[in-house]
Amino acid sequence: MRGRKAIAASLTWALSISSVYSAPSAAVKECEVADHEVTFKTIYVPPSNYNTPKTLYGRTVQLEDGTLLATWENYSPEPPLVYFPIYKSTDKGETWAPFSNVTDQVNGWGLRYQPDLYLLPQAIGDLPKGTIICSANSIPTDLSQTKIDVYASVNGGKTWSFVSTVASGGVALPNNGETPIWEPFMMVYDNQLVMYYSDQRDPAHGQKMVHQVSADGITWGPVVNDIAYSTYEQRPGMPTVAALPNGQYIMTYEYGLGPNPAGSGTFPIYYRISSSPLTFDSAPGQILNAGGTVPTSSPYVVWSPSGGPNGSIIVSANSHAEIFINTNLGDADSWVKYATPQSRAYTRHLRVMDDPDYLLIMSAGFLNGDNYVTDSVMKLPNL
Ligand SMILES: *[C@@H]1O[C@H](CO)[C@@H](O)[C@H](O)[C@H]1NC(C)=O
Ligand SMILES: *[C@@H]1O[C@H](CO)[C@@H](O)[C@H](O)[C@H]1NC(C)=O
Repeated sequence: MRGRKAIAASLTWALSISSVYSAPSAAVKECEVADHEVTFKTIYVPPSNYNTPKTLYGRTVQLEDGTLLATWENYSPEPPLVYFPIYKSTDKGETWAPFSNVTDQVNGWGLRYQPDLYLLPQAIGDLPKGTIICSANSIPTDLSQTKIDVYASVNGGKTWSFVSTVASGGVALPNNGETPIWEPFMMVYDNQLVMYYSDQRDPAHGQKMVHQVSADGITWGPVVNDIAYSTYEQRPGMPTVAALPNGQYIMTYEYGLGPNPAGSGTFPIYYRISSSPLTFDSAPGQILNAGGTVPTSSPYVVWSPSGGPNGSIIVSANSHAEIFINTNLGDADSWVKYATPQSRAYTRHLRVMDDPDYLLIMSAGFLNGDNYVTDSVMKLPNL
């Protein structure tokens, strides 16, 4: 009930300033910096009193004027409850400065894990085009519950308001038999928001991957399976999705305890391609194998029109500093490993820049690490 009140307040406010987006303002001029190569720049170094791993799980969003916003899991000492810092770059990822914070406005738990940033490409319900969405796993300090909440900013990331709760789960431990939810990833499809996440609540699966859709950002439909294996212990997770130029969609995932003929680890990267991003459940799974190299753990996928008529599918994984590129629309035999100037990281983030020949890669460190946050922007190879 607390949530309902906040929704009403935030939407009234969203409507009142939505006109900001109809004026092509001075803000557009603010960031007239061309995309260029940026090599391993520091976004944020946490103070020594932060808890291990200090930072993790970086994400960005790019606004229409080219401004980049970045956030990450931020392990600051509590109180105050943990939050997602928003850092801003107006020079295409070269330098970064603190800009705002996304804080828990409804649970009294903090915004702890797995932020996702997304720029609305169209209006959804009362949220105007250009709204920035920050989805989050809100979790109390004792990790006893998990909740995927949606926050929105209609002023370029300066202030944030709670919009809705998508789903709730149990204790935030990734063990079979527990019931948490994890790793929200949002996109718009067919005039609806789609929220993908990993789900341990189904007693038939240690973990599966699911989505829910919403036409207004407030009311969310039923849980639909995307990837669920019949072997209970197998744990597909970490959904990200990209649209391909032939009308199809690719989802990459880590396939916990999935088959890995290369023997490179127990979380091999797999992918599925489907004609709709709502029907991955019936699409065949395919291992990502680049000439014998099978990357593992915490993938991220994007597509760029750079690289020829089919563009480039680009995948990052925890196991490699390199990226994996496919210029044949995901054809199983067409993956190429390609060097980057950026460090490896747990769930490293990718973003295709305005000039799609340039790719931003963001790292915020490793599980149990002593981490800090960095980015690079590299030119794609045009393979
Ligand atoms: C974010 O919150 C922290 C902790 O309350 C505070 O120290 C910091 O100044 C805030 N940052 C911004 C940009 O408001
Ligand atoms: C585009 O992808 C298709 C499907 O794999 C492939 O048959 C075709 O050769 C590719 N085109 C180019 C120019 O690479």
